[in-house]
Amino acid sequence: MALHSASMASKLIFAPAGQEAHGQAGQFTKGVLTRSDLDQTSPIRQFHNWFATAQQSSLIPHPETCCLSTASLPSGRVSSRIVYLKELDAEGFVIYSNFGTSKKAMDLATNSWASLTFWWENLERQVRVEGQATRLTREESQKYFDTRVRGSRIGAWSSRQSQVLSPTKGDADRDGDDDGRKQLDKWVEETEKRFDGVENIPVPDFWGGLRIVPESVEFWQGRQNRLHDRFVYEKKNTTENVQEWSLERLSP
Ligand SMILES: Cc1cc2nc3c(=O)[nH]c(=O)nc-3n(C[C@H](O)[C@H](O)[C@H](O)COP(=O)(O)O)c2cc1C
Repeated sequence: MALHSASMASKLIFAPAGQEAHGQAGQFTKGVLTRSDLDQTSPIRQFHNWFATAQQSSLIPHPETCCLSTASLPSGRVSSRIVYLKELDAEGFVIYSNFGTSKKAMDLATNSWASLTFWWENLERQVRVEGQATRLTREESQKYFDTRVRGSRIGAWSSRQSQVLSPTKGDADRDGDDDGRKQLDKWVEETEKRFDGVENIPVPDFWGGLRIVPESVEFWQGRQNRLHDRFVYEKKNTTENVQEWSLERLSP
């Protein structure tokens, strides 16, 4: 039954709930999170636990999918996009991307703060990571680059990520057969020629890993009536300059 009707007619979307145009959002009922469930000293270990659970659950097809947000200074304008988490180590969370032409590259050149957000719907869990981003070394990036299928390695060389692609001839002609894709196909062709017969393609200088070194990591478990369980780890420097993590429960 529609819960909201006539007065909302001007809104194209209002209180959608799954397949229903209007409705009551579902309740979160799958779990409970208490302080004793969490790793007491390390958000990295805690993330690894939750990631392993998500990976083992057939209900989360790609737990490595996350939202990377960056912000440009001095405007403060924020941009977000989906990326894949590719590595986790004691230092932080690693994603791979283009750092030559992409928007994230432009943002990070002015502001190294970044965030990653994971949403594992069928476990009703969210994780938020905030920290400073640093590029991996060329050697580290090469190791991951080598695991990619050849087409993706060629693609990384070919794409000037997020640059406008224009039709090769004349003005943009929406009825024509080129909306700009031909330019990309041409770059791919050129890269194919360049690396013809080359098995070990070098990682481009403008492409590679980015490690988000966490300053705070929040673990969120959905609960009934939006009274969710939330715990945040915050990096603290002790007087002896040793790094430790505080752990606090947050109000939903
Ligand atoms: C499921 C999914 C996974 C993606 N993974 C990556 C990734 O790992 N690295 C990447 O650079 N872009 C990835 N993308 C593309 C980005 O969302 C985005 O289009 C691209 O990075 C350009 O963003 P930017 O110019 O705003 O930085 C992915 C997109 C989707 C939908």
